[in-house]
Amino acid sequence: MATIDRAASIARVAADINELTGPAYTLTSDAIRRYAYTDVYASTLDYFETQFTDLGFDVSFDPVGTLVARNRPSGEPVFGVGSHCDSNRNGGPYDGTLGVVVALEVCRLNAEHGADLPLQVISFLEEEGSGFGQMLLGSRIMVQSVDEADLRENFRSLDDGRSFWEHAEDAGYDPSRWRESVNVLDNHLGWIETHIEQARVLQDTGNRLGIVNAIAGYIHGDITVIGRADHAGATPMDFRHDAAVVAAMCITELERVAKEAGNRTVGTVGELSVSPGLINVVPGEARLSLDVRGPDDASVKDVVASIKSYAHEVAEARGLEANYAMRQTLPATAMDASIVSELETAAAGSVEPYRSMLSGAAHDTMCVASRVPSAMVFVPCRDGISHAPDEEADPADGALASEVIFEAIQRLV
Ligand code: GLV
Ligand code: MN
Ligand code: MN
Repeated sequence: MATIDRAASIARVAADINELTGPAYTLTSDAIRRYAYTDVYASTLDYFETQFTDLGFDVSFDPVGTLVARNRPSGEPVFGVGSHCDSNRNGGPYDGTLGVVVALEVCRLNAEHGADLPLQVISFLEEEGSGFGQMLLGSRIMVQSVDEADLRENFRSLDDGRSFWEHAEDAGYDPSRWRESVNVLDNHLGWIETHIEQARVLQDTGNRLGIVNAIAGYIHGDITVIGRADHAGATPMDFRHDAAVVAAMCITELERVAKEAGNRTVGTVGELSVSPGLINVVPGEARLSLDVRGPDDASVKDVVASIKSYAHEVAEARGLEANYAMRQTLPATAMDASIVSELETAAAGSVEPYRSMLSGAAHDTMCVASRVPSAMVFVPCRDGISHAPDEEADPADGALASEVIFEAIQRLV
């Protein structure tokens, strides 16, 4: 095992994170907010491009803007590392970005120790869905699990309503070649993504690393309730077709059925809108998003089916209509046993506490795993907080993840 200068590694990881938390890399000062095709996102890619170029890597972009850095000519086998550097709109410094920083640190350790490992780093576009409401968009494009019509028409900017396609073209990319993105995953010996845990298991059990053995699956969808807009003062309670009331009933029912489903199934309504959205008008329409997840796909499907039929029933009973449309879904994803095992061996060799665990959050690795043997490493985040500005993690744990991944890849190539 190489003797790694841990203090130097920690300082580099801390410096990267510190730099990318600055005002040039976020649209707002009260959170980290960066997403595809914004100037601050382009600056973030520029930062990584410079770092990888300095290490002698070739940097390129897939047809929609996912960053790819490699130290071997294309066509030669590589081991993949990376994550995403876009953020939740209400994000902190670590969700995603730490995984790209750790990948960069693996490349630095590779240079420092003359290991000459064949490496390719990916920083996926739009993991969070902050730009277009579509989670894991860059990796879904890469593994071809989107439709061209969605990219051209249906996926629309949350800011200005223009299509993903138009935004990609305006940013200088060529979305008409999106199918070529799949080639980025050719000739891969494996893939490892590092991420903050986003829960508090590691903190509460005193572990510094989590080796992920599976990632929970999810269904994202929307329920639209159509009632009738009416005067809020003049319409008696018994004469209303209030869409917001049906939406509210669906929210509490979702909480009930998700709890009842067990198997670590969770359900969330994170987006809620009523229209026309005026204090003196009974809402004529409401839309609520559904985010249902868990390691057991059948339970996730059951929760969605039951909330869908509940919405229909309560809407109908009150003289309204409710429609459900799925946005996107991915099944629970098992990690590759041999990569997991090498990571565990390397973690044990680091003499730092680690454990194996499930990921409740979704990750680009779910898509990568459909083509390449894949695994993930988690580091703790304070009190499990993420998708929030006060998200916090220790750069020392990021450096430890880099060390463990560097050791594991040496055995895997
Ligand atoms: C990804 O950010 C997720 O919501 O799981
Ligand atoms: Mn993330
Ligand atoms: Mn996230």
